[in-house]
Amino acid sequence: MKTKVEIRKYYNLKIKELIKHNKLYYDKSSPVIKDSEYDKIKNEILNLENKYSYLKNKASPNVTVGYKPSNSFKKYKHKVPMLSLSNAFYEEDLQNFEKKIFNYLNKNIKIEYSVEPKIDGISASLTYRNKELIYGVSRGDGKIGEIITENLKTIKDIPQKISSSDFPNEIEIRGEVFIKKKDFVNIKNQFANPRNAASGSLRQKDPKETKKIPLNFIAYTFGYKEIISHKYQSDFLSDLSKWGFKINKDNVVLSNINDLIKFHKKVEKKRFKLDYDIDGLVYKVNDLKLQDRLGFTSNAPRWAIAHKFSADSADTKILNIEIQVGRTGALTPVAKVEPVNIGGVIVSNATLHNEDEIKRKDIRIGDIVKIERAGDVIPHVINVDLAKRSTKSKLFIFPKICPSCGSKTIKEFNIITKKYDAVRRCTNDSFDCERIAIEKLKHFISKEALNIDGLGKKVIEKFWELNLIKRPQDIFKLDYSKILKLDGWGSLSVNNLKTSIENSKKVSLQRFIYSIGIRHIGLENAKLISDNVKNISSFLEIIKNNKFDKFINIDGIGETQINSLKNFFSNNKNVDILIELKNVLNIESQNSVKNGILKNNTFMFTGKLEGISRAEAKSLIEKNSGTTLSNVSKNLNYLVIGEKPTKKKLDQAKILGVKIISKEELLKLLN
Ligand code: IVH
Repeated sequence: MKTKVEIRKYYNLKIKELIKHNKLYYDKSSPVIKDSEYDKIKNEILNLENKYSYLKNKASPNVTVGYKPSNSFKKYKHKVPMLSLSNAFYEEDLQNFEKKIFNYLNKNIKIEYSVEPKIDGISASLTYRNKELIYGVSRGDGKIGEIITENLKTIKDIPQKISSSDFPNEIEIRGEVFIKKKDFVNIKNQFANPRNAASGSLRQKDPKETKKIPLNFIAYTFGYKEIISHKYQSDFLSDLSKWGFKINKDNVVLSNINDLIKFHKKVEKKRFKLDYDIDGLVYKVNDLKLQDRLGFTSNAPRWAIAHKFSADSADTKILNIEIQVGRTGALTPVAKVEPVNIGGVIVSNATLHNEDEIKRKDIRIGDIVKIERAGDVIPHVINVDLAKRSTKSKLFIFPKICPSCGSKTIKEFNIITKKYDAVRRCTNDSFDCERIAIEKLKHFISKEALNIDGLGKKVIEKFWELNLIKRPQDIFKLDYSKILKLDGWGSLSVNNLKTSIENSKKVSLQRFIYSIGIRHIGLENAKLISDNVKNISSFLEIIKNNKFDKFINIDGIGETQINSLKNFFSNNKNVDILIELKNVLNIESQNSVKNGILKNNTFMFTGKLEGISRAEAKSLIEKNSGTTLSNVSKNLNYLVIGEKPTKKKLDQAKILGVKIISKEELLKLLN
């Protein structure tokens, strides 16, 4: 006869298995077991629960989804990607958001915002052609969604035909699908929260199943559109309503940060009275022309931000402080705490940020602390309850050597702030430090880097342990026959892995540079570098000859980035990794066949341009197929001058016969 502990252990094991397969099925749409095997696990759990009444789990099939959404929807490439928004929690975040806008525009102006409640649902994109709904698509990964038209058509808020005469011939209307709180009450045993309910219902194979759960739709933006002449987001919202879409009745237009904060406080107080879940407010620059100018960073618009509602917090005890080593060598202390429920999520880890933070707050093992969890952000310690501190408690001593590889750690001196960094780092920033190497590998396969689906973080850890992957290039030399023999792997999952590795081989130069995981070289900087070097061979030349200094001429790249590149490639092993990767991958060169109005023309700037930042001017030129240079040479066609131009550049340009033009003349060239 098994003991209670053993039974519980076995039960938890089965639940874990179920969660894993649910994830593979629902999130990744790539199941690794047959339906019958899945049902077997499910039944085993149900039988155990029947037999032993003390067994309970939120993930049990008794509690969760009664539906099995389909994974057989056709895919659809969004004409305009469905991006996410950056988050703001504090006033400071909002100020930074606005500051970045001013910097980009090179001007301090009064900005009007369209303020909209952020409904916590599932976004959908509706394509109308000739006033008729032809496609309804889920967000998917933002680039490719699933065609769920029939399911969306069951939602009464979604018009299938539009009668207004001024409705564009072709337009994608985007908005949120959600379930009202009062309707959720009736099905709350089937889903963890209203958002899951909306998502589960939308992905049913049979629209009749979708229809069983009352869904709603609120429209808030457009994707692709055939030119329509709205000046403001708020006008577009009014037209949405006129055309027959539901819009949020709490939308307003406000124009300074103080007013945004006041409104945020007001809504935060009344959010519980609303009939649907909202998790914050969205602020969008109201002027659509300005939105257009501001554009996007790699994953979010510069013209909008989500101001989340404040976090939940709870008191708990610090059981231990562990030091994690990150991809760039940063030593991050993490508090292991007594598990505590914060806003419906069980929290057992909290970040302590860095060495200085522990010192500043004098956080010690055994302390009772207040922990806060805001949105998707990692929980962190707010303060220590000193009254509850034990008299025997000891100061926490931060390690001085890397807990992973034993190397020396340092706090870098920042020449700009004239201060030492708050973060302590392992000096062995390479694949020689085990933890750094593993984190670098996880970064290499991550979504924005090589995006190798079948190879998650857990698999990387496992394959590392088994000596299957130690360096990025090992990924492309895997011995699949060995993997097939591992626990949890079958021919289906091995094949999926093979395919996703094969598919990842074709990669843009930007993504490739980002994927190497060089400190200070994020997606944006990788783009700047790849625009400059154009192809992997010339990047390698620069590396081999240590010619990184020439990057100083790239707008946006500074000494910090250059030093980081020098440092990374001063280690020959890193250079070798790059060379090996170049040989197995198909790294696409920057596309140089372009047909814009500035084709074959080169530009350079000197002096401050009024009302437009360098970054924007540069992006305007590139959008129109022009190239920007960083030196006056005979290859230069135009020198664009602003306020206080450099005399030397002007003189050189005159000698070489380069055309000298003003900002206005540049804009004229662009029409
Ligand atoms: S605009 C590029 N407006 O929030 C901007 N999004 O994190 C795209 N959301 O995926 C979104 N209410 O699901 C926008 N009024 C609103 C919104 C809203 C909710 C959701 C949407 C989106 C996510 C962005």
